[in-house]
Amino acid sequence: MSGKKFLLLAAACVLLTACEGAQKEDEKTSIRIGVSLYRGDDTFINNIRSVLEEKAKEYERQNNIKVTLDIQDAKGSQNTQNNQVERFISLGCDVLCINPVDRMDASVMIDRAMTAGVPVVFFNRQPVEEDMARWDRLYYIGVDAKETAVLQGQMVVDLYRKRPEDVDLNGDGVVSYVLLEGETSHQDSLIRTEWSIQTLKDGGVPIEKITGGIANWERSQASALMEQWLGAYPDTIELVVSNNDDMALGAIDALDRAGITRMNVIGIDGTTPGLEALENGRMLGTVSANKELYASAIMELAASCALGKELPPEYPLENGTYYWTPQEILVHGTFKENP
Ligand code: GAL
Repeated sequence: MSGKKFLLLAAACVLLTACEGAQKEDEKTSIRIGVSLYRGDDTFINNIRSVLEEKAKEYERQNNIKVTLDIQDAKGSQNTQNNQVERFISLGCDVLCINPVDRMDASVMIDRAMTAGVPVVFFNRQPVEEDMARWDRLYYIGVDAKETAVLQGQMVVDLYRKRPEDVDLNGDGVVSYVLLEGETSHQDSLIRTEWSIQTLKDGGVPIEKITGGIANWERSQASALMEQWLGAYPDTIELVVSNNDDMALGAIDALDRAGITRMNVIGIDGTTPGLEALENGRMLGTVSANKELYASAIMELAASCALGKELPPEYPLENGTYYWTPQEILVHGTFKENP
């Protein structure tokens, strides 16, 4: 065989092997996804989980690929979550979707995933940048916290401009508010608080803070705080600004117990119970992330990692790493006085 012919044959063999490899990836008929939630009892996370389960079934039907979602609850323990990651890897998961317990302490999970070569899609609790920069197979899906906060402030600014008497309820020229904050270590809490209040100020709403407190996203903690505040500042509070819907609902529980119907309460998330409160007028408004897109971004990104396929163009990744879910303002239809 001439040298030229031999080279051609060798090149053909290389091509054939590469194509076979690609075909094998294409032929994968099942994928296993390990999902760990920071707390399974968190309302918003639960909402995302339900949609994710639907999206996995939809993906299965549309792509003829069996999708196994192994969903675990870390119950607020980073240690438990690290063990779950270990188990997912030993079970042969193709990709992990992690809602970190401690977003500042994702490094152990990242180490394990990197060593095993298993990509990770983080969501909702954003690991620090140094951790995210460690590997190009780490992704994050969430919402832009500043955008959320500006939208939350904007809904009150809009109402104040249209009907100031519906915001300054006692007509004294000042809107007295209380503030319910989420976990101190969560990227969303600080940014939401800062920009929501800044937007109210910039929009010309004459606000005055009465008091505020941390209720860790929880309805019962917020309810207890609000009860104290109603006792300490009777007939004073006009607006409750809450970092999420569950705490807004906790404030409404306290208002219900005190028999107070006229007070504006605003939340964030658009959870199922939050939307009910909006519908019946107990909550003035919320900022809702598009949960369909949020969950399908998690599913599509996980599947594309597992199958080695391109991510569909409707999910653009900032810096090849971050997907920001679109969100919208939802307000009680009429802007009328609470029932
Ligand atoms: C926030 C959400 C909260 C809570 C928290 C958990 O984005 O608004 O309700 O779910 O995430 O990390």
